[in-house]
Amino acid sequence: VDAGAERPTATLSGPAPTQARRHASHKGSYGDVAVIGGAAGMAGAALLAGRAALHHGAGRVFVGFLDPAAGALDAQQPDLMVRPWDSLALEGMSVACGCGGGAAVRAALPRVLAARALVLDADALNALAADAPLQALLAGRSAPTVLTPHPLEAARLLGRDTKAVQADRIASARELARRFASVVVLKGSGTVIASPEGEVRINPTGNARLAIAGTGDVLAGWIAARMGSEPAFEAASAAVVLHGLAADRWPADRPLTAGALAVSYAAS
Ligand code: APR
Ligand code: MG
Repeated sequence: VDAGAERPTATLSGPAPTQARRHASHKGSYGDVAVIGGAAGMAGAALLAGRAALHHGAGRVFVGFLDPAAGALDAQQPDLMVRPWDSLALEGMSVACGCGGGAAVRAALPRVLAARALVLDADALNALAADAPLQALLAGRSAPTVLTPHPLEAARLLGRDTKAVQADRIASARELARRFASVVVLKGSGTVIASPEGEVRINPTGNARLAIAGTGDVLAGWIAARMGSEPAFEAASAAVVLHGLAADRWPADRPLTAGALAVSYAAS
């Protein structure tokens, strides 16, 4: 719903990047995505985001683990290029940061903020909420940025409690978008997508089967992949709609898991 207007305005924004490939293109034409996350014990979150990026339009996907002892391969998804996070040159990439980030993500954020396009999720948002210098760095960033808080993460960023955020989700998302000069995806039933200019969309798709660990990580990777070819507000809106649509179309007799969602594709 456009704030103050009557109908949901979340729409699909043209063909998904996976459908619209020029013949004379190569993997470099579709953008590199890097996922920065996976602190000790949380590799799965970063791999979920990486798999989602790979299945939703990215040309090449790197997973940069924050845990120096993490493995160098996703054996089920060998097309992911798994590396220590600090070996990746992030400037030309779309980066999804925070997935399984733990406390280690704080040290990565100053470099991550140099990315060409950026999605900040989960512990990246928690680190940001607690750190004024980082907030200043984000404010000085002119490249496209999407923040994907769930209500508790949004509450931390706003310095209030979850109940206050949920009492007016549109106002909360708008305030965050303005304050951080970023597109904001306030997740949960009726996800709100707000632009820094004050435009608001409410997602009509999705259901409570998404309320399982890992679906948020999948969304972060999905948005980052679309940011290789779309403006931030469109990339976030389309990924949110399709992520929900995939859940709405999920067979009733098949369990919805984040791993399966990451590699699913819901065409319009
Ligand atoms: N209806 C529609 N969509 C829903 C619903 C619902 N009832 N419940 C959840 N979702 C969607 C959200 O909109 C979002 O896209 O599922 C996704 C859940 O994302 P998160 O809340 O980020 O959950 P996730 O990251 O998968 O797992 C929880 O998040 O931030 C971390 O540390 C936190 O470990 C925790 C983890
Ligand atoms: Mg999450």
